[in-house]
Amino acid sequence: MKILITGGSGVIGWNLLEFLKSKDNDVSFTFNKNKINHKGNFLDITNEEETINLITKLNPDIVIHSAALANVDLCERDKNLANQINVNGTHNVIKGCQKIDSKIIYISTSFVFSKSDKAYTETDIPSNPKTYYGLTKLEGEKLILESELKSLILRIDQPYFWKKSWQHTNSVLRVIETLSKKQNLKEITDWFNAPTYIPDFVSATYELIKNNHTGIFHLTDPNFLSRFEWALKTADVFDLDSKLLIPINSDQLNLDVKRESINLNSKKIQEKTGVKMRGINEGLLDMQKIGFSDSG
Ligand SMILES: NC(=O)c1ccc[n+]([C@@H]2O[C@H](COP(=O)([O-])OP(=O)(O)OC[C@H]3O[C@@H](n4cnc5c(N)ncnc54)[C@H](OP(=O)(O)O)[C@@H]3O)[C@@H](O)[C@H]2O)c1
Repeated sequence: MKILITGGSGVIGWNLLEFLKSKDNDVSFTFNKNKINHKGNFLDITNEEETINLITKLNPDIVIHSAALANVDLCERDKNLANQINVNGTHNVIKGCQKIDSKIIYISTSFVFSKSDKAYTETDIPSNPKTYYGLTKLEGEKLILESELKSLILRIDQPYFWKKSWQHTNSVLRVIETLSKKQNLKEITDWFNAPTYIPDFVSATYELIKNNHTGIFHLTDPNFLSRFEWALKTADVFDLDSKLLIPINSDQLNLDVKRESINLNSKKIQEKTGVKMRGINEGLLDMQKIGFSDSG
């Protein structure tokens, strides 16, 4: 299978790249600012002509569209940039896919929904996202659905795993790094997540591709826990001093936008692919077993 990953230098794109290559696919990827040490293609998805030209030149069977401005606070501060990359950029990628009639896989987020006591399923229609980031990602989802391309929309939440040196950190690594230095870390008690263990995300995506699935899937942890509870579990598994963790309310942080607790029901992915999204304990234990290695 010939696959192109936009945003292959990013956390999600990179992990997909490594896994899909290991399964004998012909995988190429794009980078933007991070000129990493592997053979990729420079692309700015806000440039319509460049985007269409690259997609038509590479002519993949599938485009995995992972490139985005994924920094929630930056999206809030620079709405124009968020719109350019997450909405117009997605539209440009879609136009390229339409030229070659490829399938498109769009990486999305729990933030397309608004706060609710229920766990959203794939049949729920997202509306009223609170963050500008969520709003732009929802616009992207709508463009994918309107495009009439064969598509998958994969919603994730707070992905975590070991990272490469040039990639942004995540909640688990922040806890490991800070507590290892014997420093205090403030963690929020009023923001709940269903975090995505990246190795499960990539195997589930591979199964979806292999079996030619289309539609919307939630690829998240079956558990829903606060950032503070998550940090406690991380400290426990990595044998770090949990007394260094300081519980706080998110109002005490100067965030550009308050995060909402949004729970995604992820039963469908196991029913359709057999891949079980691991809970946080199992994910952390697996990370510990694998151990850190930065070969990137
Ligand atoms: N991280 C999360 O918490 C989270 C949660 C839910 C969903 N998601 C979604 O998952 C996907 C991947 O996120 P991630 O965590 O892997 O983000 P990331 O590490 O920040 O990677 C973003 C990727 O997008 C590329 N990119 C940014 N602006 C671009 C532009 N103008 N043109 C082309 N490429 C551009 C970046 O390239 P360079 O690095 O080379 O500049 C990078 O490869 C995104 O669609 C995001 O919305 C992420």
